[in-house]
Amino acid sequence: MAFPQTLCFLRAALFFVMVIAFLSSFVSCDRDLSNLQEVVPLNHDHLLVEDQTAENGYYGDDQYFPFQAYPSSYMNMFEDGKFKGLIQEKTDILMTEEKVGMTPISTCVYKKVNVNKYGAKGDGSHDDTKAFEKAWKAACSSPRGAVMVVPKEKNYLLKPITFSGPCKSKITLQVLGTLEASDDRSDYEDDERHWLIFDGVNNLVVHGGGTIDGNGKIWWQNKCKIKKDLAITFNDCKNLVVKDLKIKDAQQMHMSFEKCVNVRAYNLAVTAPEKSPNTDGIHVTNTQNMTISNCDIGTGDDCISIVNGSKNVEAMDITCGPGHGISIGSLGAKKSEAYVSGVTVKRAKLTGTTNGVRIKTWQGGSGCASDILFSDIEMVDVCNPIIIDQYYCDQDEPCKEQDNAVQVKNVLYKNINGSSASSVAIRFNCSKSFPCQEVFMQNVILRLSGEEAEKEAKAECSNVKVSNIGLVSPQCPCEEGEKKL
Ligand SMILES: *[C@@H]1O[C@H](CO)[C@@H](O)[C@H](O)[C@H]1NC(C)=O
Ligand SMILES: *[C@@H]1O[C@H](CO)[C@@H](O)[C@H](O)[C@H]1NC(C)=O
Ligand SMILES: *[C@@H]1O[C@H](CO)[C@@H](O)[C@H](O)[C@H]1NC(C)=O
Ligand SMILES: *[C@@H]1O[C@H](CO)[C@@H](O)[C@H](O)[C@H]1NC(C)=O
Repeated sequence: MAFPQTLCFLRAALFFVMVIAFLSSFVSCDRDLSNLQEVVPLNHDHLLVEDQTAENGYYGDDQYFPFQAYPSSYMNMFEDGKFKGLIQEKTDILMTEEKVGMTPISTCVYKKVNVNKYGAKGDGSHDDTKAFEKAWKAACSSPRGAVMVVPKEKNYLLKPITFSGPCKSKITLQVLGTLEASDDRSDYEDDERHWLIFDGVNNLVVHGGGTIDGNGKIWWQNKCKIKKDLAITFNDCKNLVVKDLKIKDAQQMHMSFEKCVNVRAYNLAVTAPEKSPNTDGIHVTNTQNMTISNCDIGTGDDCISIVNGSKNVEAMDITCGPGHGISIGSLGAKKSEAYVSGVTVKRAKLTGTTNGVRIKTWQGGSGCASDILFSDIEMVDVCNPIIIDQYYCDQDEPCKEQDNAVQVKNVLYKNINGSSASSVAIRFNCSKSFPCQEVFMQNVILRLSGEEAEKEAKAECSNVKVSNIGLVSPQCPCEEGEKKL
């Protein structure tokens, strides 16, 4: 049938022209908008146009079709003021996107898999789990790459699902609508730890501007600390991009990256009530080469937690609060060996959190947390703005004194200012047997919040030698061995 195909082609051509016109209109726009171009990847954002076309009935579902370089994230950012304010110039984001490797549009044809065509209803009450599993299977087995589309303005109710790899080719999950977790705990009997798992999937992009809702109230009420239920887990994924999503009300942790390599997570809004237990925003473990940027996180636990086996992790342009701050650790629980190195947290603003930037280790562990930079950070009414706690003890019984500890080494705090909600703005509680080594502070000025602002904030330091550079206030008392540069 030649006619529909011609029509189809004309449609596509028309859209392409419109897209170009649309994009060129931004180039001449004001400075604010031109920043966006740094963020929007070159070749890999697409589909909003295709989707509308599909809904108009021109593309059949589950067909191959040529991609257009239409950045769907433009839409998300303009619609959502929250993201817009967070956008910063960022050229390095482009790199991964290239690695994740969407080849130029002209040569590439992807398979589109719309979950609705696999029986998903998206009405918020019907269980769409089976439909999503079938759709994933179809997408993952496509040799030419695939985009699994979750349509907008719909609410898909899901039980736990594992999206397993390896897939035949590159794969994208485009979440335009809402994924909502079943809150029937019996649905989690087989695996009480997970809701959505991406397991062993390489060259994966998850994006779309939609919402992932962990529906966690029922978990928070039964707050039992034994199991860590996670909303979204990426396990063993290489070349991963997660961006332009709202993630909320996780059962416990919102997103966990485990054993992943080469990851970019950006433009994420993560929210849960301040009182929801253990709802870390972004958790990173055993993961190498990761960038987290332009994220707005407010939950009941750590905004970002980086634990054992993580190396080269950079978090920048982060707003955090409420929550427990940005943490490295906890490390060394139950006498375990832990290694974290090459962590950078820069350009962050923490508001009303119980900690600011924290390194926490248990007594009795071993290993090392090293080469850590916290820079350009603003604290607003933060309870423990700067803290190293090597006596971390998050259990009912008190922790016994032990000889071993995770070595904390080479940590620089640079350009940190703002207000402390507690009298001790800086607390370095390092291990007696393994004192902290090479701790530097450069231009760190913390004052007390509100009415207390007239009083001096304090620094309490043990088993650490701190080198101060530039203006540092408060400073560790001299008898603790602080030396001035
Ligand atoms: C992480 O990045 C570094 C520097 O770019 C590179 O040398 C290393 O091989 C990467 N690690 C992995 C596991 O790809
Ligand atoms: C910490 O990570 C290393 C790999 O870097 C692994 O060998 C070790 O078992 C991990 N320790 C724990 C307690 O998970
Ligand atoms: C902290 O520093 C930033 C950047 O220099 C500045 O905009 C902000 O007003 C400072 N905040 C406080 C409380 O000094
Ligand atoms: C270090 O932690 C121990 C145990 O929590 C506590 O008793 C001590 O006062 C702390 N020291 C500092 C300097 O914070």
